[in-house]
Amino acid sequence: MVISPETRAAIDEAIARTPQPRGALLPALHLVQAEHGHISLELAAAVAEILGIRSGDVMEVVSFYDMFHARPQPRHHVSVCTNLPCSLRGARTLLAQLEAHCGVAAGEPTADGRLVLGREECLGACANAPVLRVDGTYHEKLDSEAARQLLDGLE
Ligand code: FES
Repeated sequence: MVISPETRAAIDEAIARTPQPRGALLPALHLVQAEHGHISLELAAAVAEILGIRSGDVMEVVSFYDMFHARPQPRHHVSVCTNLPCSLRGARTLLAQLEAHCGVAAGEPTADGRLVLGREECLGACANAPVLRVDGTYHEKLDSEAARQLLDGLE
């Protein structure tokens, strides 16, 4: 797994905008993750070499921020808001139904790596509870059948 010349060029551009190469660490990680979907130890070592820092420093940053992933991720992230307003409109029941439908508990990826279910706190759309988020897109006022169809339609 190597960093492509295009990504390397973008990292070099980020480095040119900072007083020291290490200042480009976050942009570099975003670029590498955009290319590979996650940041493995091998990729972290490559980033470290480019920036002139230790790979352990890179992995500390990867593990600190939720936005970075050290392992390959499921293709789709589905989360159900289980905060109070959504729960009052059936979100916890809906999550349990989706767990049963997918055969996994929240937080565990499906065996085929297609999706992972999760819980979220308020997504700021309480008036349209219950709220699901699929890969960053909100789906609101879904009943169980509509939610199952939505998940079944994901590649
Ligand atoms: Fe679910 Fe606010 S509580 S969107």
